[in-house]
Amino acid sequence: MTIIDGKEVAAKLRKEIAADVKDWKEQGNRPPHLVAILVGNDGASQTYVGHKERACSEVGFRSTVLRFEADITEEFLLGEIAKLNADPEVDGFIVQLPLPKHISEQRINEAIDFRKDVDGFTPVNTGRMMLGLPAYLPATPDGILELLKHYKIETAGKHCVVIGRSNIVGRPIANLLSQKGWDCTVTICHSRTKDLASVVRTGDIVIAALGKAEFVTADMIKEGAVVIDVGITRVPSDKTKSGWKLLGDVKFDEVAPKCSYITPVPGGVGPMTIISLMKNTLKAAHKEVL
Ligand code: GUN
Repeated sequence: MTIIDGKEVAAKLRKEIAADVKDWKEQGNRPPHLVAILVGNDGASQTYVGHKERACSEVGFRSTVLRFEADITEEFLLGEIAKLNADPEVDGFIVQLPLPKHISEQRINEAIDFRKDVDGFTPVNTGRMMLGLPAYLPATPDGILELLKHYKIETAGKHCVVIGRSNIVGRPIANLLSQKGWDCTVTICHSRTKDLASVVRTGDIVIAALGKAEFVTADMIKEGAVVIDVGITRVPSDKTKSGWKLLGDVKFDEVAPKCSYITPVPGGVGPMTIISLMKNTLKAAHKEVL
């Protein structure tokens, strides 16, 4: 059994991106510039945006965080997005989710120029991805693909069971793994799936992305399966300084011994997602995707 080391793979890719940025700047270009919009003071969102800022500085990007109060209007936010769409000094930007309830995530998403959509969430990028055209891929699915590639995990002809049908993880990763080059046979399970455990047991590759802590137990996993855990649920803990710890969607201790490969939480898929965002921003600066 191999524990997939997302931190190590992310560090390797980060170095490659930093070298690329150095070349780009030496050719006389300004550094790639990523902007993050953060609305309100959701604790997890603040942490994620902080990680993104740090990653930008590590690879030599410029980064800007636009922080707004939770009570801004949707119209105001749409105005800020229009400014970023038109700003030639901004290569890519993201609007950190979730947004306050009174702001429509869909209307905000649709307002983002797809050429700057480094989250890969807009309808144009989603459509292009599904068609197998060059697109900004969403961070978590892309991070999973990078891990499979790095560990040379065979995917062709394998049965991949994805648990969860979200727009940003479940459905895109299911689509990507079914495409030519990855060649998986894919099943998507969700809350209405009948006898989910029996379906998951047929998976050579299981991707747990439903957002329920320790949902996947050993009895659901076939011997020798590859298990990718996308869950990050914060639970209170008296053993950490912050007062909380992260749990995956997989009961790691009992599932790991049955696996050929498994990702831990933290340190598996998580560190890879920021790398994907950096990759997209670099591509946006190079104007090479769309
Ligand atoms: N909230 C949780 N994950 C993400 C992400 O990948 N992008 C954005 N913008 N918000 C998120």
